[in-house]
Amino acid sequence: ECPKVKLNNGVEIPIVGFGTWQSKPEEVVHAVEYALKEAGYRHIDCAWAYDNEKEVGQGIRNSGVPRSEIFLTSKLWCTHHHRVEAALDETLANLGTDYLDLYLVHWPIHLNPNGNNYKFPTRPDGSRDVLLDWRIRDTWSQMEAVLKKGKVRAIGVSNFSQRVLERDLLPYAQVVPAVDQVELHLYNPQLALVAFLKSKGIVPQAYSPLGSTNSPLLTDETATAIAAAHGLMPADVLLGWLVARGIVALPKSVTPSRIAANYKGALAAAAALTEEELERLDGVAAGGKQKRLITPPWGVDLGFDNWP
Ligand code: A2P
Repeated sequence: ECPKVKLNNGVEIPIVGFGTWQSKPEEVVHAVEYALKEAGYRHIDCAWAYDNEKEVGQGIRNSGVPRSEIFLTSKLWCTHHHRVEAALDETLANLGTDYLDLYLVHWPIHLNPNGNNYKFPTRPDGSRDVLLDWRIRDTWSQMEAVLKKGKVRAIGVSNFSQRVLERDLLPYAQVVPAVDQVELHLYNPQLALVAFLKSKGIVPQAYSPLGSTNSPLLTDETATAIAAAHGLMPADVLLGWLVARGIVALPKSVTPSRIAANYKGALAAAAALTEEELERLDGVAAGGKQKRLITPPWGVDLGFDNWP
């Protein structure tokens, strides 16, 4: 069984979850079914914006694993900050469930819901149509309300930097976010953010832990050397390092052999890696490899130092 981390409200989250970003709808049905039924995952990470929630829900039902045994996360999209409960209801209907285990604010920005494109509104100059005056605390109070109603078991954030948390959210929050899900991997280890989150009782979650599509991480010399020393795959080391550091890892795959290997390998590597190896992995980025792989297209609007 997968080790769990306790969130700040006592709810337990399996430390390895199954990612679904960039999984095509027709593929994700089978991937989710396989992850639950064959590979042993009990934690699925979704989002309204991934355009595949209905198929994730179908995969969950196909697996035969009871809903109560699954930790299910989804995220509030940027055009929905003014109507959190309605957006949550749509996600619940998509997934075919009546509650989420965790609901996240996907990004710390409100995109214009009446813009020229419902998901990615763009201004005439080509920049993203961000509502710059929106206060994130007004999103968060709605998140707190759906928590209170019992529609979700925990609430958290995604892509929030320390600066945004300290300036715009924590001073106003009744409920401290349970997690912050960010781009976190060998080349973007977020050491300072992770230390800050831990000091606040917020669990870090790693998206793109394998470095996403065409990943440079799988051939990294430190990761491959450490993997070889243990008879593991580089992917195992990339995930096991996170797990050993108490970071929730969310590897994505639609390939059955990889879905199974990532789950087993993450737990095996977390147990096998020595403290010295973990420290070497912590230091890879600082040794000249620091690189963000996912860049938000609205970064220019607010300044890139507003997110991790
Ligand atoms: P696929 O889904 O075709 O199997 P991340 O979790 O960082 O977002 O990375 C996901 C990407 O890494 C996908 O392109 C996925 O491909 C690929 N991938 C997932 N697991 C492995 C693995 N064990 N070895 C190599 N590539 C993998």
